[in-house]
Amino acid sequence: MELSTISHAILFEAIEQTGETFCLTDLEASVIYVNRAFEKLTGYSRGEILGRNAGILKSGEHTSDFYKEMWETIKAGRRWNGRIVNRRKDGTLYTEEVRIYPILGQNGKPKYFLALRHDLTRETQLEAQLNQSQKMESLGLLAGQISHDFNNLLTIIIGSMELIGEDLEKGSVGAKLASEILRSSKEAASMIKQLMVFARRQEARPVRTSINTPLAELKILLDSLLGRNISVAYSLSQDLATVRIEPDQFKQAVLNLAVNAKDAMDGSGAIMLKTYNAGPEGLPPSLRSGEYAVFEISDTGPGIPPETLPRIFEPFFTTKPKGKGTGLGLSTVYGIISQSGGQIIAANLPKGGAVFTVYFPAVK
Ligand SMILES: Nc1ncnc2c1ncn2[C@@H]1O[C@H](COP(=O)(O)OP(=O)(O)OP(=O)(O)O)[C@@H](O)[C@H]1O
Ligand SMILES: [Mg+2]
Repeated sequence: MELSTISHAILFEAIEQTGETFCLTDLEASVIYVNRAFEKLTGYSRGEILGRNAGILKSGEHTSDFYKEMWETIKAGRRWNGRIVNRRKDGTLYTEEVRIYPILGQNGKPKYFLALRHDLTRETQLEAQLNQSQKMESLGLLAGQISHDFNNLLTIIIGSMELIGEDLEKGSVGAKLASEILRSSKEAASMIKQLMVFARRQEARPVRTSINTPLAELKILLDSLLGRNISVAYSLSQDLATVRIEPDQFKQAVLNLAVNAKDAMDGSGAIMLKTYNAGPEGLPPSLRSGEYAVFEISDTGPGIPPETLPRIFEPFFTTKPKGKGTGLGLSTVYGIISQSGGQIIAANLPKGGAVFTVYFPAVK
């Protein structure tokens, strides 16, 4: 077909149906046309955006200099490329790669601007997840070496102190000091043990099971631990995929998560425990496609501030006052989950409250 004989209708259909988003504006950034992909990406229908300023998508994440540079480039008739964080109609932010082409008139000056955008949400999530797992990996190596050496030293200290204590006269100053040293050393040893779990230095004997089984065994303990003012609701899938985990370690992880939820809620609220199957669709981008059994625990607390979210699994990261928390709870959870080939993701619920989602690969 000759180029000149391609009808406008065909071109229009092509632009309407492509997955790339088109947005055409005039020189003042007033929207003249958007295609369907644009409506889908931003949540704005054409009726809502035609005639409005394209600045409606601004997220507040960029400086005015950023936009100034963009405008100067396109007004001068040059193409502009960049990554922009924008805001959808529902208020959520997303990252996109944007290319803005000035459409020139016969006088060589821009008449319109055409913005093509490519959603990078998945890529940026993947990038963040990769950075996160690299950080955890190097922390794990460091913690592994330190905890291993410390554990050996503490074993000697504790053993020797026990022997010394036996030789000392009961009630004497020496005996009191010896028992104080022993108590502190045992406390140190228990911290070191947690660090060893984080560093996956603990031997594990995984078994094939449904995660519903250890959860059911935990019920009475959880109820008494959480007290009367915190309700616990269960929603367990009945045909849950089988996984390979160490049930006692899994229970330890659930307890740590539940205690955190309790602490966050300051005494009263609700905890929800859920299990379900997932995959291959609807998985977070960091997971390989496949089948997973998922465990989810959510609470009605204040949630986790976005700026601390990337740090909560680090050993010794705590927001609790001195003497209240060691910051080892979530790092042991992290170690336990990754040792069994699983992955844990922390997030906040839209209506407030934290949610921890744990994915275990299903075994055949
Ligand atoms: N459910 C939750 N809601 C809000 N914030 C949470 C929740 N769970 C964890 N956090 C945050 O993550 C931090 C780290 O948790 P982690 O369990 O590792 O340590 P900790 O609870 O502070 O101390 P430890 O568990 O050693 O007693 C907490 O201090 C808190 O700020
Ligand atoms: Mg904790």
